[in-house]
Amino acid sequence: MKAIVVTPGKQNSLRLEDHEAPVPQRGQLLLRVLKVGICGTDRDIIAGFYGEAPTGSKFLVLGHESLCRVAEVGGGSSGFRKGDLVVPTVRRNCPEDCINCRRGMSDMCLTGHYFEHGIKGLHGFAREFAITDHNFVVRLPESLSDLGILLEPLTIVEKGITQAYLMQKSRMVWKPKSALVLGAGPVGLLATAILRLRGLEVHTVATRPEKSLKARLVERTGAKYINSKKTPLDTLEARYDMVLEVTGNTSVALEAQNLTSLNGIVSYLGIYRQEQATEDAGEVFTNLVLGNRVFFGSVNANKTYFLEGAKDLSRIKNEWPGFLEKIITRREKPDNFTEAYSPVGEEGIKTVIQFEV
Ligand code: BGC
Repeated sequence: MKAIVVTPGKQNSLRLEDHEAPVPQRGQLLLRVLKVGICGTDRDIIAGFYGEAPTGSKFLVLGHESLCRVAEVGGGSSGFRKGDLVVPTVRRNCPEDCINCRRGMSDMCLTGHYFEHGIKGLHGFAREFAITDHNFVVRLPESLSDLGILLEPLTIVEKGITQAYLMQKSRMVWKPKSALVLGAGPVGLLATAILRLRGLEVHTVATRPEKSLKARLVERTGAKYINSKKTPLDTLEARYDMVLEVTGNTSVALEAQNLTSLNGIVSYLGIYRQEQATEDAGEVFTNLVLGNRVFFGSVNANKTYFLEGAKDLSRIKNEWPGFLEKIITRREKPDNFTEAYSPVGEEGIKTVIQFEV
């Protein structure tokens, strides 16, 4: 079977290999992979500064965003049947089975020794068949047999927003009205849609022109698009109850803190390159304290967010027909893996590799 692999730590080692199909053990499912989605994490792994092969393997099969069908149940009562449309979560428990991992919250692993399919110590789903633990798989309705590939990126947003609400509601009376989303890639667009579903007034910022596909998609949900090339962030007058930072840009991340209202919250969902501070650190902390603000980071998502996310995906599909379809701007066959993993280009948003249509 076809498998897309890299040698972690080695720049541009991306290749297509011919592998034996894996055999599911008791408690595991054999998955027929339909599609994998590509994100910045995959490109970082290909560039050689992220990613870890499984113990004893020199390579790592890529792919953590996937949409699959159950091909075989490896024994044990999994509750799944051959043919079920499913999405596996990404992270698996640490060997120590810390208290959070043990309770289904490996996204909040305490040891940092967790595994991640296609990223850290576990092969991913960019292959025709893959295996995974049946406890980490969610079933999707047939109506999501194509768009279910967007579930994994949506769970990142689902967790970032849910945790912000939990924190804010536990420390005061909180009735948020407005949100700012920094970035309009797949995660930013999905965040915009979810916040609109929650009834917030949303402004979404990116660098592309007002006529671009990203801008049009933002406005489709009733949110307002801001082109930061024309309206730089430091000229914005509004302050927002919640800010979601998904650009992964350090200067934007710092700016996010100034755009938060009193008692507001900033959720950081990007990965930031090391950069010299461009802002006075004292000012940042004073702003944090005097405004009762919360700045927090959030990574990965456990099964609860996948279950909630599946419902939100259907809601978005019904509320704004065509919105989710347009986020997928490129579909490639596994043989065209080089093109698939190259940058998305001017009007591009999300690339998907189709192992089976
Ligand atoms: C994935 C997360 C993962 C994170 C860090 C992201 O791209 O969506 O599941 O935890 O990378 O490895």
